[in-house]
Amino acid sequence: MRSAKDFFRPLAVGAPTPLTEIPARPSRAIHFFDPSNEKMAAKVPQMVGTVDVLLGNLEDAIKADNKVAAREGLVTIAQGTDGLGGPQAKTQLWTRINALDSPWALDDLTTLVPAIGDRLDVIMVPKVQGAEDIQYVDRLLAQLEAKAGLDRPILVHAILETARGMVNIEEICGASPRMQGLSLGPADLAADRRMKTTRVGGGHPGYLVRQDPPVNDLGISEVDANRTTYQQDLWHYTIARMVDACAMHGIYPYYGPFGDIADVVACEDQFRNAFLLGCVGTWSLHPKQIAIANRVFSPSVEDIRHARRVVAAMGDGTGAVMLDGKMEDDASLKQCLVLVELAEQLAAIDPELKKQYDALDGEEA
Ligand code: GLV
Ligand code: MG
Repeated sequence: MRSAKDFFRPLAVGAPTPLTEIPARPSRAIHFFDPSNEKMAAKVPQMVGTVDVLLGNLEDAIKADNKVAAREGLVTIAQGTDGLGGPQAKTQLWTRINALDSPWALDDLTTLVPAIGDRLDVIMVPKVQGAEDIQYVDRLLAQLEAKAGLDRPILVHAILETARGMVNIEEICGASPRMQGLSLGPADLAADRRMKTTRVGGGHPGYLVRQDPPVNDLGISEVDANRTTYQQDLWHYTIARMVDACAMHGIYPYYGPFGDIADVVACEDQFRNAFLLGCVGTWSLHPKQIAIANRVFSPSVEDIRHARRVVAAMGDGTGAVMLDGKMEDDASLKQCLVLVELAEQLAAIDPELKKQYDALDGEEA
């Protein structure tokens, strides 16, 4: 057992002091790119400033033969792209390393930290099974940071994509002060759970509830009658579980990949469900998903208008007020403050959004 006092001490002599709080940096879209793909890599500089996070993917979707090229490509891109990554950057730089049991994970870390550790904001670790995986990465990162002379800790993000990881979710979130957040890994998680889906994220038409059958004059249920069905969300339980575990530990939950790039409508629905439940962002696998994520994970102008009215009506006091026939009290005020604070953080990096929120300034409360 570690003493609570040790928790915020560096795990290696000379390593940066762990953070006591994870900064709330906007990360509505985490846009994945393949650093071994020259065409994709060439687009990175012009994407800086247009997306909250650019993530150099080294894991699944990168062919085994391209693993080294992807790792080296990421180093070149990070070193050569202005404004990408680091504490002041508008666009953060993340990476997804290979799984800890793969032949590549160690070289990923020992190459990236010395070369671009000052630019890397967050390292995403796939297929995390328990606290032991985070603790392994935690110590190794401390050693590498000390050796590289880094002055701030690189944060760690776990992808939940195994049943064991799900069961150990709280201990994963609390395993290190580096823990920044969790993402849903619906494809691997579905396989590991032996779910019967073949998609990457999203719903399934077979997962539904059906209206009760009508009963005829003889009191017999007409099971063959037309009955409305309602498709259910396969991921509701998992995301709700992630949101609670993250909130408990002061870190951030994210939706993961939505593989049907053409179905922008269902993509938006999944993202919005995750946003409403408490997630702060999602992955983007195609530039068109960036726009969807930026829209969905930013509070709407209508919501901010209402939230600001409640804040103004409640003043500094507590109690209850009536607004448009609805009771607002301390608890609704707290919900409104969540939205208002998020809007302020996003307005600080998104001038277009700032303009929309600022236009509310002149309105009557
Ligand atoms: C993502 O990595 C997934 O497995 O869905
Ligand atoms: Mg996966």
